Amino acid sequence: MQATIGDARFWDRAARKYAADPIKDMAGYERTVDRCVSYLSKDDAVLELGCGTGTTALRIAPHVRHMLATDISAEMIAIARERAAQAGCRNIELRVAPADEAVAEAGSFDAVLAFNLLHLAVDRRAVIEGAWRALKPGGLFISKTTCLAEMTSLIRLAVPVMRVIGKAPSVVAFFDGVELTKEVAAGGFEIVETARHGSGRKDPRLFVVARKPAAS
Ligand SMILES: C[S@@+](CC[C@H](N)C(=O)[O-])C[C@H]1O[C@@H](n2cnc3c(N)ncnc32)[C@H](O)[C@@H]1O
Repeated sequence: MQATIGDARFWDRAARKYAADPIKDMAGYERTVDRCVSYLSKDDAVLELGCGTGTTALRIAPHVRHMLATDISAEMIAIARERAAQAGCRNIELRVAPADEAVAEAGSFDAVLAFNLLHLAVDRRAVIEGAWRALKPGGLFISKTTCLAEMTSLIRLAVPVMRVIGKAPSVVAFFDGVELTKEVAAGGFEIVETARHGSGRKDPRLFVVARKPAAS
Protein backbone atom coordinates (compact mmCIF):
# COMPACT_ATOMS: atom_id res chain seq x y z
CA MET A 1 0.00 0.00 0.00
CA GLN A 2 2.94 2.31 0.72
CA ALA A 3 3.96 2.18 -2.95
CA THR A 4 0.46 3.27 -3.95
CA ILE A 5 0.64 6.34 -1.71
CA GLY A 6 4.12 7.16 -2.99
CA ASP A 7 2.92 6.88 -6.54
CA ALA A 8 0.00 9.24 -5.93
CA ARG A 9 2.60 11.87 -5.01
CA PHE A 10 4.67 11.00 -8.11
CA TRP A 11 1.64 11.41 -10.38
CA ASP A 12 0.56 14.60 -8.60
CA ARG A 13 3.97 16.09 -9.42
CA ALA A 14 3.84 14.80 -12.99
CA ALA A 15 0.27 15.90 -13.73
CA ARG A 16 0.74 19.37 -15.28
CA LYS A 17 3.53 18.17 -17.58
CA TYR A 18 1.52 15.04 -18.47
CA ALA A 19 -1.41 17.30 -19.40
CA ALA A 20 0.80 19.51 -21.58
CA ASP A 21 2.62 16.71 -23.41
CA PRO A 22 1.09 15.84 -26.79
CA ILE A 23 0.02 12.24 -27.49
CA LYS A 24 3.01 10.70 -29.30
CA ASP A 25 1.16 8.46 -31.75
CA MET A 26 -2.13 10.24 -32.44
CA ALA A 27 -3.19 7.88 -35.24
CA GLY A 28 -2.69 4.88 -32.95
CA TYR A 29 -4.59 6.63 -30.16
CA GLU A 30 -7.49 7.38 -32.51
CA ARG A 31 -7.64 3.70 -33.50
CA THR A 32 -7.91 2.80 -29.81
CA VAL A 33 -10.64 5.35 -29.12
CA ASP A 34 -12.62 4.27 -32.21
CA ARG A 35 -12.36 0.58 -31.31
CA CYS A 36 -13.35 1.28 -27.73
CA VAL A 37 -16.38 3.35 -28.81
CA SER A 38 -17.43 0.56 -31.20
CA TYR A 39 -18.09 -1.64 -28.13
CA LEU A 40 -20.15 0.99 -26.27
CA SER A 41 -23.69 2.30 -26.59
CA LYS A 42 -25.63 5.43 -25.60
CA ASP A 43 -27.24 3.61 -22.63
CA ASP A 44 -23.97 2.45 -21.10
CA ALA A 45 -22.52 3.34 -17.72
CA VAL A 46 -18.73 3.29 -18.00
CA LEU A 47 -16.00 3.33 -15.35
CA GLU A 48 -12.46 4.40 -16.27
CA LEU A 49 -9.67 3.49 -13.84
CA GLY A 50 -6.48 5.59 -13.78
CA CYS A 51 -8.08 8.22 -16.02
CA GLY A 52 -5.22 10.72 -15.65
CA THR A 53 -6.14 14.16 -16.97
CA GLY A 54 -9.36 12.85 -18.50
CA THR A 55 -8.32 12.90 -22.16
CA THR A 56 -9.90 9.56 -23.01
CA ALA A 57 -12.84 9.90 -20.62
CA LEU A 58 -13.82 13.13 -22.40
CA ARG A 59 -13.64 11.35 -25.77
CA ILE A 60 -15.78 8.43 -24.54
CA ALA A 61 -18.38 10.39 -22.52
CA PRO A 62 -20.37 11.73 -25.54
CA HIS A 63 -20.98 8.11 -26.65
CA VAL A 64 -22.37 6.77 -23.36
CA ARG A 65 -25.00 7.61 -20.72
CA HIS A 66 -22.70 8.09 -17.75
CA MET A 67 -18.98 8.05 -17.17
CA LEU A 68 -17.26 7.68 -13.79
CA ALA A 69 -13.53 8.32 -14.15
CA THR A 70 -11.19 7.71 -11.22
CA ASP A 71 -7.50 8.22 -10.52
CA ILE A 72 -5.23 7.92 -7.52
CA SER A 73 -3.80 11.40 -8.15
CA ALA A 74 -5.82 14.36 -6.87
CA GLU A 75 -3.85 16.65 -9.20
CA MET A 76 -4.71 14.54 -12.27
CA ILE A 77 -8.38 14.62 -11.24
CA ALA A 78 -8.24 18.41 -10.69
CA ILE A 79 -7.00 18.86 -14.27
CA ALA A 80 -9.61 16.41 -15.59
CA ARG A 81 -12.32 18.43 -13.79
CA GLU A 82 -11.03 21.66 -15.36
CA ARG A 83 -11.13 20.02 -18.79
CA ALA A 84 -14.60 18.56 -18.28
CA ALA A 85 -15.89 22.00 -17.24
CA GLN A 86 -14.23 23.64 -20.26
CA ALA A 87 -15.75 21.00 -22.55
CA GLY A 88 -19.19 21.43 -20.93
CA CYS A 89 -19.29 17.68 -20.38
CA ARG A 90 -22.20 16.93 -18.01
CA ASN A 91 -22.31 13.13 -17.90
CA ILE A 92 -18.89 12.63 -16.34
CA GLU A 93 -18.07 12.24 -12.66
CA LEU A 94 -14.41 12.49 -11.65
CA ARG A 95 -13.28 10.92 -8.39
CA VAL A 96 -9.96 10.41 -6.59
CA ALA A 97 -9.66 6.67 -5.90
CA PRO A 98 -7.08 3.90 -6.24
CA ALA A 99 -7.85 1.45 -9.04
CA ASP A 100 -7.87 -1.54 -6.69
CA GLU A 101 -10.43 0.00 -4.32
CA ALA A 102 -13.99 -1.25 -4.81
CA VAL A 103 -16.39 1.37 -6.17
CA ALA A 104 -19.69 1.80 -4.34
CA GLU A 105 -21.50 1.19 -7.64
CA ALA A 106 -20.12 -2.38 -8.00
CA GLY A 107 -22.02 -4.54 -10.47
CA SER A 108 -23.51 -1.55 -12.28
CA PHE A 109 -21.11 -0.80 -15.14
CA ASP A 110 -21.42 -1.92 -18.76
CA ALA A 111 -17.72 -1.33 -19.35
CA VAL A 112 -14.59 -0.71 -17.29
CA LEU A 113 -11.65 0.97 -19.05
CA ALA A 114 -8.00 0.99 -18.01
CA PHE A 115 -5.59 2.77 -20.34
CA ASN A 116 -1.87 2.91 -19.59
CA LEU A 117 -2.51 1.69 -16.06
CA LEU A 118 -1.99 -2.04 -15.48
CA HIS A 119 1.81 -1.87 -15.70
CA LEU A 120 1.71 0.75 -12.92
CA ALA A 121 -0.51 -1.11 -10.45
CA VAL A 122 0.96 -2.44 -7.19
CA ASP A 123 -1.40 -5.39 -7.38
CA ARG A 124 -2.46 -5.95 -11.00
CA ARG A 125 -4.61 -8.93 -10.09
CA ALA A 126 -6.57 -6.80 -7.60
CA VAL A 127 -7.25 -4.23 -10.32
CA ILE A 128 -8.48 -6.92 -12.73
CA GLU A 129 -10.65 -8.45 -9.98
CA GLY A 130 -11.97 -5.00 -9.09
CA ALA A 131 -12.93 -4.41 -12.73
CA TRP A 132 -14.76 -7.77 -12.73
CA ARG A 133 -16.71 -6.80 -9.59
CA ALA A 134 -17.59 -3.36 -10.98
CA LEU A 135 -19.11 -4.85 -14.15
CA LYS A 136 -22.59 -6.12 -14.80
CA PRO A 137 -22.71 -9.71 -16.08
CA GLY A 138 -21.89 -9.50 -19.79
CA GLY A 139 -19.97 -6.24 -19.28
CA LEU A 140 -16.62 -5.47 -20.92
CA PHE A 141 -13.18 -4.78 -19.52
CA ILE A 142 -11.18 -2.77 -22.08
CA SER A 143 -7.50 -2.13 -21.43
CA LYS A 144 -4.47 -0.84 -23.29
CA THR A 145 -1.18 -1.34 -21.49
CA THR A 146 2.50 -1.11 -22.31
CA CYS A 147 4.06 -4.58 -22.15
CA LEU A 148 7.54 -3.54 -21.04
CA ALA A 149 8.94 -7.08 -21.34
CA GLU A 150 8.48 -6.71 -25.11
CA MET A 151 10.72 -3.64 -25.25
CA THR A 152 14.50 -3.53 -25.35
CA SER A 153 16.03 -5.13 -22.25
CA LEU A 154 17.78 -1.79 -21.58
CA ILE A 155 14.46 -0.59 -20.18
CA ARG A 156 15.05 -2.85 -17.17
CA LEU A 157 18.21 -0.86 -16.44
CA ALA A 158 16.70 2.49 -17.31
CA VAL A 159 13.66 2.30 -15.01
CA PRO A 160 15.61 2.11 -11.71
CA VAL A 161 17.81 5.01 -12.83
CA MET A 162 14.77 7.06 -13.82
CA ARG A 163 13.22 6.23 -10.45
CA VAL A 164 16.29 7.58 -8.60
CA ILE A 165 16.03 10.89 -10.47
CA GLY A 166 12.28 11.08 -9.91
CA LYS A 167 11.28 10.35 -13.51
CA ALA A 168 9.58 6.99 -12.94
CA PRO A 169 7.03 5.86 -10.36
CA SER A 170 7.92 3.25 -7.75
CA VAL A 171 5.72 0.63 -9.41
CA VAL A 172 6.59 -0.34 -12.98
CA ALA A 173 5.84 -3.96 -13.85
CA PHE A 174 7.41 -6.01 -16.62
CA PHE A 175 5.21 -8.50 -18.47
CA ASP A 176 4.46 -9.39 -22.08
CA GLY A 177 1.18 -9.53 -23.96
CA VAL A 178 0.76 -13.28 -23.51
CA GLU A 179 1.18 -13.02 -19.73
CA LEU A 180 -1.21 -10.10 -19.49
CA THR A 181 -3.88 -11.82 -21.59
CA LYS A 182 -3.59 -14.90 -19.36
CA GLU A 183 -3.94 -12.76 -16.23
CA VAL A 184 -7.10 -11.13 -17.57
CA ALA A 185 -8.54 -14.55 -18.46
CA ALA A 186 -7.56 -15.87 -15.02
CA GLY A 187 -9.66 -13.06 -13.53
CA GLY A 188 -12.75 -14.79 -14.94
CA PHE A 189 -13.00 -12.91 -18.23
CA GLU A 190 -13.57 -14.27 -21.74
CA ILE A 191 -11.08 -12.65 -24.12
CA VAL A 192 -13.01 -10.98 -26.96
CA GLU A 193 -10.15 -9.27 -28.80
CA THR A 194 -6.47 -8.46 -28.53
CA ALA A 195 -4.85 -5.95 -30.87
CA ARG A 196 -2.00 -3.50 -31.35
CA HIS A 197 -2.99 -0.06 -32.61
CA GLY A 198 0.40 1.63 -32.86
CA SER A 199 1.58 3.17 -36.12
CA GLY A 200 5.15 1.86 -35.74
CA ARG A 201 6.45 -1.54 -36.81
CA LYS A 202 6.41 -2.97 -33.31
CA ASP A 203 3.91 -1.72 -30.74
CA PRO A 204 4.43 -2.94 -27.15
CA ARG A 205 1.01 -1.66 -26.08
CA LEU A 206 -1.56 -4.43 -25.95
CA PHE A 207 -5.23 -3.55 -26.43
CA VAL A 208 -7.47 -6.15 -24.75
CA VAL A 209 -11.24 -6.44 -24.73
CA ALA A 210 -12.59 -9.05 -22.30
CA ARG A 211 -16.13 -9.96 -21.27
CA LYS A 212 -17.45 -10.86 -17.84
CA PRO A 213 -19.55 -13.93 -18.61
CA ALA A 214 -23.30 -13.20 -18.78
CA ALA A 215 -24.01 -15.99 -16.28
CA SER A 216 -21.90 -14.71 -13.39
C1 LIG B 1 0.45 6.87 -17.62
S1 LIG B 1 -0.87 7.70 -16.80
C2 LIG B 1 -2.26 7.26 -17.86
C3 LIG B 1 -3.41 8.20 -17.73
C4 LIG B 1 -4.56 7.93 -18.70
N1 LIG B 1 -5.19 6.65 -18.46
C5 LIG B 1 -4.03 7.99 -20.10
O1 LIG B 1 -4.03 6.98 -20.81
O2 LIG B 1 -3.64 9.11 -20.50
C6 LIG B 1 -1.15 6.64 -15.44
C7 LIG B 1 -2.25 7.14 -14.54
O3 LIG B 1 -2.56 6.12 -13.62
C8 LIG B 1 -2.73 6.69 -12.35
N2 LIG B 1 -2.44 5.64 -11.38
C9 LIG B 1 -1.25 5.07 -11.09
N3 LIG B 1 -1.41 4.11 -10.16
C10 LIG B 1 -2.73 4.09 -9.86
C11 LIG B 1 -3.52 3.32 -8.98
N4 LIG B 1 -2.99 2.39 -8.20
N5 LIG B 1 -4.85 3.57 -8.92
C12 LIG B 1 -5.41 4.54 -9.70
N6 LIG B 1 -4.71 5.30 -10.56
C13 LIG B 1 -3.40 5.07 -10.64
C14 LIG B 1 -1.77 7.85 -12.31
O4 LIG B 1 -2.13 8.81 -11.36
C15 LIG B 1 -1.87 8.36 -13.74
O5 LIG B 1 -2.88 9.34 -13.85
